[in-house]
Amino acid sequence: MRLWGGRFSGESDERMAAFTRSIEIDAALALDDIDGSIAHVRGLRRAGILTAEDESALLAGLGGLRSDVAAGRVAWDPALEDIHMNVEAALTERVGTVARRLHTGRSRNDQVATDLRLWLRRTVRALDAGLLDLEDALVTLAEREPGAVLPGTTHIQPAQPVLLAHHLLAYVEMLERDRGRFADAMERADRSPLGSGAIAGAGYPLDRDATARDLGFAGPTANSMDATSDRDFVVESIAAAALAMVHLSRLAEEVAWWSNPRFGYVRLSDAFSTGSSMMPNKKNPDPAELVRGRTGRVVGDLTASLTMLKGLPLAYQRDLQEDKPVLFDALGTLEASLGVMAGLVASLSVDAGRMREATREGHVTATAVADAIVRLGIPFRTAHHVVGRIVAEADRRETSMDDLPDEVFTGALGADADPRATELALRPGIGAELRAAAGLDAALASCDVIGGTAPRRVAGALAAARERIDRQRVAPTGEAR
Ligand code: ARG
Repeated sequence: MRLWGGRFSGESDERMAAFTRSIEIDAALALDDIDGSIAHVRGLRRAGILTAEDESALLAGLGGLRSDVAAGRVAWDPALEDIHMNVEAALTERVGTVARRLHTGRSRNDQVATDLRLWLRRTVRALDAGLLDLEDALVTLAEREPGAVLPGTTHIQPAQPVLLAHHLLAYVEMLERDRGRFADAMERADRSPLGSGAIAGAGYPLDRDATARDLGFAGPTANSMDATSDRDFVVESIAAAALAMVHLSRLAEEVAWWSNPRFGYVRLSDAFSTGSSMMPNKKNPDPAELVRGRTGRVVGDLTASLTMLKGLPLAYQRDLQEDKPVLFDALGTLEASLGVMAGLVASLSVDAGRMREATREGHVTATAVADAIVRLGIPFRTAHHVVGRIVAEADRRETSMDDLPDEVFTGALGADADPRATELALRPGIGAELRAAAGLDAALASCDVIGGTAPRRVAGALAAARERIDRQRVAPTGEAR
């Protein structure tokens, strides 16, 4: 029964077998394992190890098995330990003893490393599409509410007004870097370990270039010991997933606050919120909370993968089997979270009135007024003090800066120790001029630099993001070579 059982005469202990087997997890590699085996059979034929008849019998058997697995018609046997043994056994059932030639010049060590890279390639392709979908949802929401403005915060305190579109585009930037990180990791993972054997390289004249090409890899790995025991590509992918989850978690946190009636900036759709079993009034952002919560697990997956590797001497050690639960969990969690966040964002309703109303608290245009004073030739530190006085007066009167009378602005200039400020206070109309600078739209328009929140800059950034997303939808990165 045990494919490695030649030197063993005793039975495996049931506890040991249950503890070491991986089929429940690595069944996810079934199609990749079969694809790797198909390429390996071709390679064995090219090397003259298989006859043409052997080759066609094995390829027919693997092809049939592949269709049955894809259609969910194959049940795996836990007694067979892992997916590699299961595929070989299933093939033997179909084609008979010729299947005994399949594992020539191959070890499960180069096999599993190959399978995992194939799995990663197709999974990252789906993740890339998911990241792009969420970017699209954010950009679409920004396009729907181009004029919405909210109080941007630092230290969770009101800071400066920003366009909602600007805020949403910040996440688009993060997600775009996430796509780049995956693409970058995939470039290094794009090598075929097949032919590395257990540790030292296959003992047959396998054309590893041809096999790599067959599997769509850029080329073969360069060192058999590295190829069978390296899991950099696992760590890098989990790291990219963990950072992407952190980005989603930040967005989830904001949506949770924004949907709180105290803020009232957005309303969640019924499709992406839940109720309470006890409190009939509740509408909770549970999907966002779970994205935030599961981010912790994915960060843990990263820690687990690094810790698994740190004490391993070359080459393959069985510890490496633990790469799969964390990799599958991290990338699976990210994929599901991306889908939920895209749906949640797409179905948000924005209350632009409430957002604008909120900008009346916290004197968020104060910096714009200071900048206006500086533009009239006053040093910034002086302007900062002058505006501080205006802010204090607005607080005293429990009003917002642009509702103050002009004289308060003039008075704050005149009261300064800096003679340049007192001189400016004498200029006719200066109070009204500064009061105008305290207006919301003036403040927004003043941040007119690349990457700033001035409406014309944001409109440009939004159009550029839309153009890029539509272009990448046609030709996504990470496409099959
Ligand atoms: N299930 C193993 C893994 O995932 C496959 C390789 C096992 N190799 C071995 N020599 N025991 O790593």
